[in-house]
Amino acid sequence: MKTLISSDVRLLADLIRKGGVVVFPTETVYGIGASSFLEEACKRIYQIKGRPGDNPLIAHFSSIEEIKTICEVNETAERLLCEFSPGPITLVLPKKNPAIFPKNLTTLAVRIPKNPLIREWIRECGTPISAPSANLSGRPSLTRMTDVVRYFDGIVDGIFDTEEPSVGIESTVVGLTTEIPILLRPGVIESKDLKLFLPNLVIPGSFSLEKTDVPLSPGTKYKHYAPIANVKVLPRETFVSLFSSFGANPNFGWIGFTLEEKESKSLPNGSKEKERICNVSTNAEYTSKLYAFFEACDRLGLEGIYCEEPKLGEGAEGLRNRLEKASETK
Ligand code: TXA
Ligand code: MG
Repeated sequence: MKTLISSDVRLLADLIRKGGVVVFPTETVYGIGASSFLEEACKRIYQIKGRPGDNPLIAHFSSIEEIKTICEVNETAERLLCEFSPGPITLVLPKKNPAIFPKNLTTLAVRIPKNPLIREWIRECGTPISAPSANLSGRPSLTRMTDVVRYFDGIVDGIFDTEEPSVGIESTVVGLTTEIPILLRPGVIESKDLKLFLPNLVIPGSFSLEKTDVPLSPGTKYKHYAPIANVKVLPRETFVSLFSSFGANPNFGWIGFTLEEKESKSLPNGSKEKERICNVSTNAEYTSKLYAFFEACDRLGLEGIYCEEPKLGEGAEGLRNRLEKASETK
């Protein structure tokens, strides 16, 4: 198949209206989308990704008004949307229009991406865009255009060539269809931010130290976000001392804080050496580089990846969750 790689909103909207599948960037990660009203097109996304059929897709909208035509938006949902959208948050809401994909569910996950050009494209499509993250099911989501082209050129109808994702991990998902709101997937909008609006927000056991027993979103039962290489997450002290003794081994990758200045100076200057060591200075930078780094390590065929624990505080919640998911044993 010939893939249109373009930033032309009209051409890419044409593809969607004709039932095509288009890969596009959001501020979090790339998505792989189709018209939410064309079931066959949405089903093609599952085939391309190898995604389990019971894992529903997020519908992407260009405005709160559009969401209101499809879903019940109560006062709490409206307040959350006004505060955090457009942005890296997804709300699961009761569905009003049963024709939208997936038709068998009474709920719909909705999100408004931040990039204005992507919102303009969604408006031009004249339909919400149903899209999971653009990746093979179970593997880390893609955050770089070169990786997207490598995986999807020749497989999808279009690739939207514009600003790459900056956040680096998938949106925070909040369930608002039960009596008590629930955090279904942590992200860069953290539970402390959400609790200002949802004081009774439930944070399931796997995301916090307090174990609770609540049913999760379908996606959370599948293995996620893991590269082929084995991932190990280590506290700073162990990480640094292991790096000084073991860092020169070419079969392992390292991502952590202030690696470069002190420890990696002694390493040879070959490009593989540079690619398998990723130095970051904040949790936000760590988050934005994590999946691209995993992808680079897999391309190099590395055996293992050592990751330093996130710093305490701002930006740790979503990052820690993805590191934990990636390091779960296969
Ligand atoms: O940042 C993101 O959210 C990216 C970009 C492309 O928007 N999308 C993304 O989609 O990560 P995906 O499909 O990889 O993850 C969506 C998550 C899954 O865990 C899925 O089970 C859950 O949202 N979800 C979708 N619809 C749902 C629903 N109706 N009820 C409960 N969970 C739902
Ligand atoms: Mg995904």
